[in-house]
Amino acid sequence: MRDVIEWFKENGGIKVIDKELDVELEIPHIAYLEIKKENSKPLLFTKPISKRLGIKYDIPVFMNLFANKELTEDIFGTHPDVIAKNIEWLLKMKPPKGILEKLKMLPKLWKLKSVFPKRLTHSGECQEIVLKGDDIDLDKLPILKTWELDGGRFITMGQTYTKSLDGSMQNLGMYRLQQYDKKSLGMHWQIHKDGAHFFNEYAQAGKKMPVSIAIGGDPLYIWCGQAPMPSGMFELMLYGLIRGENAKLVKSITNDIYIPHDVDIVIEGFVDPTVSKVEGPFGDHTGYYTLPEEFPVVEITAITMKKKPVFHATVVGKPPLEDKYMGWGTERVFLPLLKPMAPDLIDYHMPENGVFHNLIMSKMKTHYKGHAMQFMHAFWGVGQMSFVKHAIFVDENAPDLTSYEEIATYILDRLDVKNIFISKGILDHLDHSSNEQFVGGKLGIDATGDKVDLKVKLLSNEELLEKAQALDAQIVDLKQFCTNSANPICVISVNKTDSMKKLYKNIEVLKNHIAILIVIDYKNNDLKYPYMLVWRVVNNIDASRDIELSPFIFVDGTTKSEVDGFYREWPQDTLCSKEVLEKLKKDALVEFDDDLIRRFGLLEFN
Ligand SMILES: Cc1cc2nc3c(=O)[nH]c(=O)nc-3n(C[C@H](O)[C@H](O)[C@H](O)COP(=O)(O)O)c2cc1C
Repeated sequence: MRDVIEWFKENGGIKVIDKELDVELEIPHIAYLEIKKENSKPLLFTKPISKRLGIKYDIPVFMNLFANKELTEDIFGTHPDVIAKNIEWLLKMKPPKGILEKLKMLPKLWKLKSVFPKRLTHSGECQEIVLKGDDIDLDKLPILKTWELDGGRFITMGQTYTKSLDGSMQNLGMYRLQQYDKKSLGMHWQIHKDGAHFFNEYAQAGKKMPVSIAIGGDPLYIWCGQAPMPSGMFELMLYGLIRGENAKLVKSITNDIYIPHDVDIVIEGFVDPTVSKVEGPFGDHTGYYTLPEEFPVVEITAITMKKKPVFHATVVGKPPLEDKYMGWGTERVFLPLLKPMAPDLIDYHMPENGVFHNLIMSKMKTHYKGHAMQFMHAFWGVGQMSFVKHAIFVDENAPDLTSYEEIATYILDRLDVKNIFISKGILDHLDHSSNEQFVGGKLGIDATGDKVDLKVKLLSNEELLEKAQALDAQIVDLKQFCTNSANPICVISVNKTDSMKKLYKNIEVLKNHIAILIVIDYKNNDLKYPYMLVWRVVNNIDASRDIELSPFIFVDGTTKSEVDGFYREWPQDTLCSKEVLEKLKKDALVEFDDDLIRRFGLLEFN
């Protein structure tokens, strides 16, 4: 990490903050506001402290490593599309014809020798300092508390290395870890993840599971940790393929897990299948808090580190954040891996304000009726793609999937109720919208067909609002979007007191003026900012409960409660702490105004 920081310094790409700042809220809040800027930069905090514990740490905190697309490309060493092309070549490789073709293939095949991680027999730089027994103390690390309502301090960019019970498979997964005390951590591997699958094997065998958690090192290890590799494939093989160099691993000191030799810090330990503890709440990348839930516990047997380690961390919360750029890399690199199961797929895009698993847009070549529907099922049935709640398909003539205004108009021009498909399936562990954890509604839209006609007579926002308010007193505000398309979207905000199904019935008479109606809460939503409206709506809906298709399309994006037949706890938004932000502003460490608060939902409003 020190080398990476030096490289950033030489290339003018890092902000170094030498002021004493608290690991609880202050440092995370600065990083949170920085990453939302157009040209955000990585941050190095040289003097982290904990006022609560009275600690001045001697390890600096490094954040926003994936601060923008250029840096992400630098971390890969090339554009992720180039990596995707190489993967595609490998997947489509055919036996060479003749000596010339053989010779041409050689350099590419030679590169494959880098794929398999190498095990070194000596110790690594990450083991220059070894803390065991009474010296183990997590309070020596500047672990952050990001949000006021977080259940404690969390390691947010930990690379968790594990192996299957029979030792035949290794895995690297990025899972957050809650600090419980000096010697134990909560292990938040979600139910569908490889780490959790391995853990089940150990639990069934009644054995403790060895784990080693690495922090820092080559930034590509970190990206690989979140990469949705097919089950059973070690993520560091992808590292080798991209770097053109084998990952070099050393054995942990107190367990038999191998970790990269050059990471900054390693936390070694075991997970006892008979022990679990409440983990969370934690302000998550959905922009909502994850509710407290029992998870396994890591009992630490050693902490090792370089002589001068750096503590690497991230902030998750409402988009846009660092995972926007990590996710962009993942999306590009994984395109060729999706094609074998969906061969006519041209491209796909998971916008970060859909927090990846809530929205995907895909471009495809259609050859037969139902082709898009076939792809929906394929997506919903495979790996981590199956968490996606809302999937929209367009044909090959559609504009670029990242040209949001054009693509929205293109979809709405082809939106036909008969091509809207509502199903059920598995959901991301973090989804809060469905009545039941882990399973819920899926929405598929086949917009690969012909253009449809505008069937409604548009009114001005003011006129429509007046008519709507006369029909339902909960309505506060209204704004129409994409009014030049065949299916304009009308968004209304409400002070909700009852089920929105009743509101929908009340304003049904406006069917000649509304093609699509989306309802959101007035509180903490601003109709001026569609970026956050999309974030809110795709987070909050369960398609099997919250969508009606006649006489117009109706989408209920409001907070749910008993009036909606919803009996789970609905989590709160991640919000900054007002006093902390104001103090940081006074110290000229952050800048914000009312517009920024509303644009990104930094604090409560309305
Ligand atoms: C910053 C960040 C934090 C994450 N935290 C978690 C987490 O706490 N638990 C989890 O299961 N996945 C988490 N993920 C997602 C996983 O890293 C991702 O799904 C990965 O592919 C899991 O690997 P696996 O399938 O090998 O388990 C996180 C991703 C990022 C980028």
